[in-house]
Amino acid sequence: MSIQQEKITELVGRREKARLGGGAKRIDAQHAKGKLTARERIALLVDEGSFEEFDMFVHHRCTNFGMEKEHFDGDGVVTGHATIDGRPVYLFAQDFTVSGGSLSKTMSEKICKVMDMALRGGVPVIGLNDSGGARIQEGVDALAGYGEIFERNILASGVIPQISGIFGPCAGGAVYSPALTDFTLMVKDTSYMFLTGPAVVKSVTGEVVTQEQLGGAAVHASKSGVAHFAAASEEEGLSTIRELIGYLPLNNREQAPEVPTTDPVSRVDDSLNDMVPDNPNKAYDMYAVVRSIVDDGRFLEIHRDFAKNIIVGFARMGGRTVGVVANQPAVLAGVLDINASRKGARFVRFCDAFNIPLVTLVDVPGFLPGTQQEYGAIITNGAKLLYAYGEATVPKVTVTLRKSYGGAHIVMSCKQLRGDINYAWPTANIAVMGADGAVNVLYAKDIKADPEHASEIFEARKKEYEDLFSNPYRAAEKGYIDDVIEPRNTRFRVIRALAQLSAKQQDIPAKKHDNLPL
Ligand code: HXC
Repeated sequence: MSIQQEKITELVGRREKARLGGGAKRIDAQHAKGKLTARERIALLVDEGSFEEFDMFVHHRCTNFGMEKEHFDGDGVVTGHATIDGRPVYLFAQDFTVSGGSLSKTMSEKICKVMDMALRGGVPVIGLNDSGGARIQEGVDALAGYGEIFERNILASGVIPQISGIFGPCAGGAVYSPALTDFTLMVKDTSYMFLTGPAVVKSVTGEVVTQEQLGGAAVHASKSGVAHFAAASEEEGLSTIRELIGYLPLNNREQAPEVPTTDPVSRVDDSLNDMVPDNPNKAYDMYAVVRSIVDDGRFLEIHRDFAKNIIVGFARMGGRTVGVVANQPAVLAGVLDINASRKGARFVRFCDAFNIPLVTLVDVPGFLPGTQQEYGAIITNGAKLLYAYGEATVPKVTVTLRKSYGGAHIVMSCKQLRGDINYAWPTANIAVMGADGAVNVLYAKDIKADPEHASEIFEARKKEYEDLFSNPYRAAEKGYIDDVIEPRNTRFRVIRALAQLSAKQQDIPAKKHDNLPL
């Protein structure tokens, strides 16, 4: 064998060893927990054969606690670049088989290298987390490593899409990297996120909770909103990340990819003409409207189980990605509360940062009243959604289906918040408030003065109010909405509007950064 051949054989052997991470025994232990290894996850996530690995021979530099004798190639994280549906991504996947995926300084340098390259190249970065947190033996070096990663998350925010998958533990300050990224996906039963684990919770507050109750996927996807997706399995989670990437541009200077569809732009849906019930207090399912108007009925919902009174997610219309925001009358009558406002605002801001037009479907009775909401700062939180819409310069097309009352009317992408094209269905009802509330305010004295005829007075005044305001025409008279459209035509009217707006340019005044009401 020539010297060169020998060296090549050595390389192949080194690679094979490095690919085993912490070794066969730890890989078996990972599988026994129902988890995949870092490399298996990457293989499922990216196009076959597209992964180019960096730094597989990197070792940590720690000499505390006998660590100088413990070396594993790659040091707890697999990093590199690949393609998803032919489009580039950078990625890192923490390898639990090496020191529990815990973060060493060297490991953070590997992660920072791909983050830097992603930012420089204008390419999304995906992080798959599965880690015991800071590598305890490294002390402050590990903390410094987290700081380096967080800073890059912040600098990359709004420039390249950043996606976090949580495929195992993610605890302590480590949770802040996913929290700084655009989307966080968790896997049910095998992943958890919390600042302090059950033992610390018990010692500090006396509360007894399991890891799952404290920070499992179900909790973060439905109660805290920390997770945007909760997948039933790792395979499903990785496939969701692939799907999500497909809707997004590579960076904030580009448009999302166009995906040709056989679904005709001109398709009308007669069922929409019967969608809105006669009784204004009766709900209907906004998902049916969303699926009816988007290409092939395909909708990737974000935050499906959190603040279900508002629906947000990605779809395509005429082949182009749109961000859909829709009130859901079937949950809490579609009211805006703190969580719905936060959920909507975060999504609207993501879409605006990444040139994704917004399609807003409105059926909103108002903001949720009460001390719980006021004490929780519905004022500040509602202002987030208002701010997000008012600041957004992407094309904004809005369709009001039914109720659009008061402050909530303004917030939901009204004309005065630089809404571009605002349509209404003939069933729209755009007013300061609903008829019952209005009559109670305006005619309380009359009703009180004549208790015998209270109900007749109420009904007569209500009819008067409804005749005047329970329609879209007061707003149409003023040009606050641009047209009243037949519901069945919504798909093509919205797609035409978006096409008309495709070259839209709009600015905001020069500033260092805004002061969003946090
Ligand atoms: C070094 C670690 C480690 C860590 C795990 N390991 N966590 N090594 N630093 N943080 C090692 C274990 O020693 C073990 O090594 C291997 O990883 C697998 O761990 P197990 O405990 O056997 O696995 P499991 O039973 O699945 O439990 C996983 C775990 C547990 C729940 C994550 O390991 C754990 O509680 N680890 C400590 C978590 C923690 O307190 N981290 C610090 C948080 S503070 P061998 O050699 O036996 O395979 C923090 C601050 C960040 O992160 C601040 C950022 C700003």
